[in-house]
Amino acid sequence: MSTTFDGASAARAATGAPADVPDLPAGFVWGAATAAYQIEGAVDEDGRGESIWDVFCRRPGAVADAASGAVACDSYHRWREDVDLLAGLGVDAYRFSVAWPRVIPTGRYGVNQAGLDYYDRLVDALCERGIRPFVTLYHWDLPQALEDEGGWRARDTAERFAEYAGLVAGALHDRVEDWITLNEPYCSSIVGYAEGRHAPGATEGHAALAAAHHLLLGHGRAVDAIRAAAGPRTRVGITLNLSPVVPATGTDADRATAHRLDLMLNRQFTDPVLSGEYPTGFERLYAGVSDLSFRRDGDLDVISAPLDFLGVNYYYRLHAAAAPHAQPDPALRSAADIGVRQVRPEGVATTGLGWPVEPEGLFDTLTGLAERYPDLPAVYVTENGCAELRDGPEPDPERIAFIAGHLAAASRAADRLELRGYFYWSLIDNFEWARGYGPRFGLAHVDYATGIRTPKASYHWLRDRLQAWHARTA
Ligand code: FCB
Repeated sequence: MSTTFDGASAARAATGAPADVPDLPAGFVWGAATAAYQIEGAVDEDGRGESIWDVFCRRPGAVADAASGAVACDSYHRWREDVDLLAGLGVDAYRFSVAWPRVIPTGRYGVNQAGLDYYDRLVDALCERGIRPFVTLYHWDLPQALEDEGGWRARDTAERFAEYAGLVAGALHDRVEDWITLNEPYCSSIVGYAEGRHAPGATEGHAALAAAHHLLLGHGRAVDAIRAAAGPRTRVGITLNLSPVVPATGTDADRATAHRLDLMLNRQFTDPVLSGEYPTGFERLYAGVSDLSFRRDGDLDVISAPLDFLGVNYYYRLHAAAAPHAQPDPALRSAADIGVRQVRPEGVATTGLGWPVEPEGLFDTLTGLAERYPDLPAVYVTENGCAELRDGPEPDPERIAFIAGHLAAASRAADRLELRGYFYWSLIDNFEWARGYGPRFGLAHVDYATGIRTPKASYHWLRDRLQAWHARTA
């Protein structure tokens, strides 16, 4: 079923002449991405409030090596170096996130001006270097005070999120035109409230579905709040993590399983946002959950507010096989327990995290969106990246091959939709959530003892391609 990725030939092709820059639409935006909790550190400085990740990291066994984002890449102090790296790389844009608890420490009332000032300085520095800021408002770091009041289980959190989004947009809109409301609500809801692998570490059934709905409601309300605060030049989108799901075998059981996983991972989010409805059959995934009263009349109209763009994070394709439910009683199942076992495709290269390298999955994701949603807005690939487990800024040919392969796939998809840009994840190595500091996704290596950033071979490789691109399209 799976397409084998020939990393070696992609790397060969990728390191050839400048002409190997893929064919992509004029005005294509090249960028790199990070997120606040993964790079900033300084969790106790200048009045920042506590986030659910600060608390989750203290839970024994929650994070590899008991690591946390308390120091991370120290970008709160070393952000000028990050901006220098971006400028040296020659990207057009930088996608970073604002930490809600830095700006509104308790999630409601009371702005922390010192926290807001940090982003103000960063945005100024980016604009001075001609780098367009793409600001994500929620990359998973909910103020803990709001979690204590129910977190995303509670409808009120959606309203608080919209207030915060409007506030940040009001403060930065004179220089920021591109806003992303949420990053990967699947992870914030299902991984955080059902699987328990991410903050807040809950393993609940019903509540995780409510969390997913409230995240989407918060997104819709934030779209309005950002537009109201920032005016007509504003562009607003949402970033979803999407993966095509292929059945491990041709059996009916595996096909049905792949469909269930597609509903849970992809269409639980794309359908409400892009079509204003939940997918048919979605409720049947959760036979034990009868109370869906968290969905109220009118919510889907809010959730499906027209967008200026959709952000797609793509890492790997999923291969699904039928499996028994972990919890036989449907009423007691976590919302992640839908009878699926993920299998690794044979003969496919994997990244340091064991994720299959299948650029074809990016092509399928992008073209699949264009086929399913007639009103699909413009699309950016807002994350795509490859991890290694080695520590050190030595050559990283697998990353070069990974990027080249995925750009080729994006380029092939680009005549079927309005593909506007590609952001590599990540500019620098950083705190990889529950996996701690082992996996390194950066174009630049970070020595966590000293904070020193050192560009890797992939950074130089991409810089050369971007120079050639800009020369060709100038
Ligand atoms: C995505 C997250 C991002 C990063 C990458 C590897 O799911 O959005 O923060 O951790 O995975």
